Amino acid sequence: MAQALAAAVADRLRAGIEARGEASLAVSGGSTPARLFEVLRDADLEWRGVAVTPVDERWVAESSERSNARLVRERLLQGAAGRARFVSLHIDAPTPEDGRARVREEIAAVPRPFDAAVLGMGTDGHTASFFPGGDRLAEALDPDGAEPVIAMRAPGAGEPRITWSLPVLLASRALFLHVEGEDKRRVLETALDEGPEHDMPVRAVLRSGAPVDIYWAP
Ligand code: 6PG
Repeated sequence: MAQALAAAVADRLRAGIEARGEASLAVSGGSTPARLFEVLRDADLEWRGVAVTPVDERWVAESSERSNARLVRERLLQGAAGRARFVSLHIDAPTPEDGRARVREEIAAVPRPFDAAVLGMGTDGHTASFFPGGDRLAEALDPDGAEPVIAMRAPGAGEPRITWSLPVLLASRALFLHVEGEDKRRVLETALDEGPEHDMPVRAVLRSGAPVDIYWAP
């Protein structure tokens, strides 16, 4: 799965560079993407023209084990891929609410729409930082929402989060949902069923009408 998804993402980045001289990639954190990153970083493409940003971020210092920025730098931005530009969603401020204005300035460096965005999914049906019970979930899922990045606090989120909004992610030229294991296959089947989006926010992606390529392996 990592080989197949890395090839699909690399194709999109090459297409972006070919067409516009630059490309952007949004990647999720957590544990699933590690193997993907190890394969993708060796892709033969002009990484200097690529901007990489996290789909979402835990509001922790990059030195933290919980940092998605740390995961991306350590596992993806190595070797040739180390020439890519990384745009973090975290800045040195006490809370994401405090930091959001500065982050909005930083993210201007990420070409949009993204050429590729790779979403993960939690067993609670969250994706990005769209968590059930999130304090700003409605705002983050608002298809007409104007804010590109949203601070999010939620019972299942651990640290305060900051996340690209749903409309920004759905506008990606290619959107991938990357999930592994039997548990998540069952969660995905439930998400594909009827039910409120706010109970399983990944439903907002699956029902959006935007093409989503689902990559699943046992
Ligand atoms: C994060 C991710 C999040 C992740 C899911 C799945 O910051 O945690 O962006 O949306 O994709 O929580 O995480 P796992 O791959 O660890 O199961």
